[in-house]
Amino acid sequence: MGERILIVNYKAYEQAFTENATRIAEAAKKLEPDLSNTRIILAVPAPLTYKIIEIYDDIYLQHVDPVPMGAHTGFLPAKAINHLPVKGTLVNHSEHKLPYRSIATVVEDVKAAGKEVVACADTPGEAAGLAYLKPTMIAVEPPELIGTGIPVSKAKPEVITAGVHAVHRIDPSIPVLAGAGITSGEDASRAIELGAGGVLVASAIVKAGDPVEKLREIAIALDNS
Ligand code: G3P
Repeated sequence: MGERILIVNYKAYEQAFTENATRIAEAAKKLEPDLSNTRIILAVPAPLTYKIIEIYDDIYLQHVDPVPMGAHTGFLPAKAINHLPVKGTLVNHSEHKLPYRSIATVVEDVKAAGKEVVACADTPGEAAGLAYLKPTMIAVEPPELIGTGIPVSKAKPEVITAGVHAVHRIDPSIPVLAGAGITSGEDASRAIELGAGGVLVASAIVKAGDPVEKLREIAIALDNS
């Protein structure tokens, strides 16, 4: 049984910049000893990296840009990850798409820096294309379910099975994560049953009245799956 992955994507929700940002990090830290086979990664807003890292050390960026270091005002070059206190980054999230060649540049630069990169796909077909780039992990998230509370693992289970199949035909060593609408431990367990190596969750945790309890519910369910 491979390690289960839970990526909590803070996105740019208001709660991602309030005290909830640190509460979630504290909760992840507290949960660590209770988890035997589950890794929690927090994909935090870039300006918060130095604040969150003081609490919890498994953090990602949500995006990096496919530009070299240099005169690129307001961009975050992929190679800059080498200088930041994060373990990796997401790229090509449904809300921050890049052209295929740009994703290739980001994957190459981030891996060359010795860090991890989770390439996101909207469909199993896109996931297959990303597998050729050999990112650390691939996430499949149908955009129409993102933020709806309607879990991909129940509403569109075929997207998960097809995504896992499509990626593993090309490279069986790449873990495939599933996301969109996951709101409960049961939704996360179902994704694992369908072949996913883990899940991405945003609104259900970040916007929850009690984000600490929701994080625990989903992490424990994954750990027991
Ligand atoms: O990256 C995870 C995300 O897109 C899923 O969002 O709010 O449906 O959990 P949400």
